[in-house]
Amino acid sequence: MKPFLEVKNLNVSFPTEDGNVNASQDISFEVALGETLAIVGESGSGKSVSNLAIMGLHNPARTIISGQAILNLESGPVDVITAPAETVRRLRGKAMAMIFQDPMSSLHPYYSIGDQISEAWRLYNEGNKKDGLKKATEMLDLVGIPDAGRRVNEYPHQFSGGMRQRVMIAMALVNNPQLLIADEPTTALDVTVQSQILQLLRDMQKEFNMAVILITHDLGVVAEVADRVNVMYAGKIVEQAKVDEIYYRSLQPYTMGLLQSIPRVDQLDSHRLKTIPGQPPSLIGLPAGCSFRARCEFASHVPGNLCATVAPALEEKAPAHLTRCHLTSAQLLELNTSDVRGSHN
Ligand SMILES: Nc1ncnc2c1ncn2[C@@H]1O[C@H](COP(=O)(O)OP(=O)(O)OP(=O)(O)O)[C@@H](O)[C@H]1O
Ligand SMILES: [Mg+2]
Repeated sequence: MKPFLEVKNLNVSFPTEDGNVNASQDISFEVALGETLAIVGESGSGKSVSNLAIMGLHNPARTIISGQAILNLESGPVDVITAPAETVRRLRGKAMAMIFQDPMSSLHPYYSIGDQISEAWRLYNEGNKKDGLKKATEMLDLVGIPDAGRRVNEYPHQFSGGMRQRVMIAMALVNNPQLLIADEPTTALDVTVQSQILQLLRDMQKEFNMAVILITHDLGVVAEVADRVNVMYAGKIVEQAKVDEIYYRSLQPYTMGLLQSIPRVDQLDSHRLKTIPGQPPSLIGLPAGCSFRARCEFASHVPGNLCATVAPALEEKAPAHLTRCHLTSAQLLELNTSDVRGSHN
């Protein structure tokens, strides 16, 4: 069976006075039903832009999009990049749904929680307001909001941050989407609530057998929930593999740097946290060569000035493990485990 979502060579750019901002370049990945793909990378790496393209949420007058994002629906495949806007609008909130970092920007302050979930449901279902409120109450119950029958009549400001995020999840799931894109859904929450929300997402995924894309800059979150990971840097996927491969056998200098910047329980004694020095390059008129080279500690191991002149392709360097780097997998594994970066005591 084909994966539910197949993204192929997706490019998204924004024309500006200074030139085109190449926010997503040649993005290809798949997500199957029941699977969680995490997308990680620092701020500005193109995580949101590529997923907003899949949801059809860019302004077509100000965005140049090419490539494909195919939803393999029961009724047949639909490429949401080329499909008419009306088709994509009808799939949004039904076959595919998205939740955002800040629930207050997605919830209307003047309508009750129940009305908002009910409206989302009634867009795709026959039923009056009372049926809608009944469905909303069921959904609030499902996402663990206590006393749902009463709280369904309350307003967003009466809910805590974690509860609002639960409401967002309820609203996203009300029409049983097959694809759920969660864009930094727990960033604004404290750690305890964060892990409750992640647990809820996992439970909901099981319950509805969804394909889930989880966007985050937190590799700790990734370890908790993802099956596979795309690491993004400066608009490109630089590494793509199963979560364990990424954690224990990363073949990408940028990912290795990211991993060194998070606390790991398996390395508490011998590991000092690091940050990656420097900044990502501008996405306007990217220079030739590898986008990460100016920050890469391993560039000196590559012969000649290959890193400065040739952009590495995304290649399969181990089974089902793709990476962009001019070094061989043997060199990368060696560097990954060595003391080269001086991070160990
Ligand atoms: N409408 C737009 N016009 C011009 N540039 C844009 C537009 N939207 C996004 N960008 C740029 O595209 C790049 C990628 O942005 P994106 O929002 O995808 O980053 P991100 O990886 O989601 O970061 P964060 O972790 O901060 O959410 C950034 O440089 C951003 O400034
Ligand atoms: Mg973002």
